[in-house]
Amino acid sequence: MTDIVTRKMEEDDVPAVLKIERLSFSTPWSEYSFLNEIYKKYAFTRVALSEGNIIGYICVNFVLHEAHILNLAVDPDFRRRGAATLLMDEALRELKKKNCVFIYLEVRVSNTAAREFYEGFGFKPAGIRKKYYASPDEDALLMMGRI
Ligand SMILES: CC(C)(COP(=O)(O)OP(=O)(O)OC[C@H]1O[C@@H](n2cnc3c(N)ncnc32)[C@H](O)[C@@H]1OP(=O)(O)O)[C@@H](O)C(=O)NCCC(=O)NCCS
Repeated sequence: MTDIVTRKMEEDDVPAVLKIERLSFSTPWSEYSFLNEIYKKYAFTRVALSEGNIIGYICVNFVLHEAHILNLAVDPDFRRRGAATLLMDEALRELKKKNCVFIYLEVRVSNTAAREFYEGFGFKPAGIRKKYYASPDEDALLMMGRI
């Protein structure tokens, strides 16, 4: 776990990020989506690296005291080593500095790994968004947390 470091996502990181994105989601984000997050004003992006290689990333948006986790993924070969925890810890620390109080996200109802991960950070189920996802069609569980 000690070999994992984080830093802000940069344009040159996007090809490596896209590889993880495509391994992690059935409807992956495009290159444009990540570039948009990198340059958006009210966005927080970080990558996690192990031995200089990108192994995970997080994208969060914030407005006033509310933050929305848009994307979080870790390379399948590097899961359960604390990379996502590191990314979340850093996001929560930065969002607190920006006076954010609430944080929410959507997750596929069947995604027990992510649901357990977020529950570990104190997130609680707050509703269902019907047919939020495609490929396959699935409801999203809305989860809310306090910062
Ligand atoms: C969810 C995800 C980001 C977790 O990344 P990770 O780096 O493996 O997470 P961590 O190692 O920091 O795990 C922290 C804790 O979360 C929980 N957790 C993580 N993966 C889990 C799994 N597969 N099953 C059950 N609990 C899990 C555990 O409590 C874990 O602690 P432990 O390893 O000491 O038991 C990763 O599984 C992933 O990229 N999934 C695919 C993309 C995705 O679903 N993203 C979220 C979309 S909302």
